[in-house]
Amino acid sequence: MVKKMKFPITRMRRLRKNSRIRNILSETKVNPEDLIYPMFIKESLKDGQQEAIDTMPGQYRYSLGDAVNEAQRLEERGLSSILLFGMPEEKDELGSMAYNSEGIVQMAVSRLKEETDLVVITDVCMCQYTSHGHCGIVKDDEILNDETLNYLSKIAMSHAEAGADIVAPSDMMDGRVGAIRETLDENGHDDTLIMSYAAKYASSFYAPFREAVSSAPSFGDRKTYQMNPSNILEALREVELDLSEGADIVMVKPAMPYLDVIRMIKNEFNVPTAAYQVSGEYSMLKAGIDAGYLTEDAIFESLISIKRAGADLIISHYAPLFLE
Ligand code: PBG
Ligand code: ZN
Repeated sequence: MVKKMKFPITRMRRLRKNSRIRNILSETKVNPEDLIYPMFIKESLKDGQQEAIDTMPGQYRYSLGDAVNEAQRLEERGLSSILLFGMPEEKDELGSMAYNSEGIVQMAVSRLKEETDLVVITDVCMCQYTSHGHCGIVKDDEILNDETLNYLSKIAMSHAEAGADIVAPSDMMDGRVGAIRETLDENGHDDTLIMSYAAKYASSFYAPFREAVSSAPSFGDRKTYQMNPSNILEALREVELDLSEGADIVMVKPAMPYLDVIRMIKNEFNVPTAAYQVSGEYSMLKAGIDAGYLTEDAIFESLISIKRAGADLIISHYAPLFLE
């Protein structure tokens, strides 16, 4: 048997003979419904005033109306889900615009639910809304965990009330999934899903995003809440805790530098797993392509790699390109 399997009886190149053979034998496929498109909606913009994001060429900040139009256009081309980030006009210490029922995200969610059939996912965090830019309540330069949970719950509730299908907490406070689940359940939103940024690393690859939505912390960094890039066993503990608190979907972020983490989590837990191809991954590929060092094929390869590593869903700024 073993002998028969050897060359020249076995020729692996037969499997790669032409594109149709390669296509039917392809082990991994990225489907349009696997992709989630992140959108930035800025309260102060008027319709028709979309702003190009310097650190992410090809990506924009939209007014509410323009965001809805763009989402509709993408839905027509086959997009299934979007992830919303809001940029409020006013920031304060407690990020109070984040849970205001007339906040930019809440308004966007209700319009999108009325005018599209998209799965609407919201980022639940405080950093775009707080004057200090941290993802939680700050006292004496410390980011307070337990005090923050109440705020995150309020934010998630306001998104669910507006009609969000999935809330996605990205703050990395301990116990936030449990707190959000409890609040949602007590208020009649037991059918709202939670996609937790379970293994979210303190990554340099977020830099273009922070510039895009003005959410960089005004002091210190996020290393006391986001994970150390060296750790993978810790990621398993994070995921286990989030699942025990009621997470429906777990996420690894960033994606490309953490493919091993995606695979390990998928093997260990077998639950719906998402991966976030973050701003730095987008801009790095984009810069390479724009400079002529790479072709757009590199983008498809990156998405295939993330899927092959075990991600069921991929959040990517390249989603629209893939739909074409
Ligand atoms: C903030 C948040 C970040 C991203 C999503 N939500 C940045 C951060 O933690 O500083 C990063 C997204 C990206 O880089 O594309 N909670
Ligand atoms: Zn945050």
